[in-house]
Amino acid sequence: MDNDNSLEGLGTISVRAIDGDYPRPVSKSIYDEWGEMAPEVRDLAITRWLIVLTRADQSDIAVGDLSAHAVWYGPTPGSRSLNIGISVVNEYRGKGIGSIAQRLLAEELHRQGIVRVEAQTDIENFAEQKALESAGFKYEGTLRKAQARKDGLHDIQVWSHIYSGTTDAE
Ligand SMILES: CC(C)(COP(=O)(O)OP(=O)(O)OC[C@H]1O[C@@H](n2cnc3c(N)ncnc32)[C@H](O)[C@@H]1OP(=O)(O)O)[C@@H](O)C(=O)NCCC(=O)NCCS
Repeated sequence: MDNDNSLEGLGTISVRAIDGDYPRPVSKSIYDEWGEMAPEVRDLAITRWLIVLTRADQSDIAVGDLSAHAVWYGPTPGSRSLNIGISVVNEYRGKGIGSIAQRLLAEELHRQGIVRVEAQTDIENFAEQKALESAGFKYEGTLRKAQARKDGLHDIQVWSHIYSGTTDAE
């Protein structure tokens, strides 16, 4: 590795903010086979980032995308955490990209003043659990029967990445 964000033989990973209508790379998994969507979800404010791989010849390629939405744990500004999601394009999985991208996004959100960045993942999604751990997230617990997908209700793990500096809310 040349630096924390580079992967030998691949290039350097960065995350780039995009508008909601910006085309995202195609990536599919069993964890986004949702079935019927709740209409209220359309009103959810979601922020998005591309995961960009810059290769040795300086060309960029989008290898995945990230999202974040607010979760409130009280009525005060300091009670706002951001919950992130990720998808890496199938042929780029298992190369360390998801770990770096989630760490970069957590660091970016801390810079924007968010203390608690959280991520949820299925209890059987071992790749994401390992990627979150490598990204510096800590496992906090399991929410029982929390997520309904096409094939039924699933238990979901909660992980968090906490800013270690001081903030106005403290
Ligand atoms: C989950 C995901 C984002 C991880 O990104 P990634 O780039 O593949 O992750 P990384 O390569 O950084 O790390 C994956 C780790 O899981 C390991 N892994 C991969 N598949 C695994 C499996 N079936 N069981 C156990 N470990 C597995 C890898 O070896 C790697 O571990 P390491 O860091 O010890 O080498 C990506 O695989 C993906 O997009 N999956 C489909 C969508 C998804 O599940 N999104 C998250 C929903 S919450």
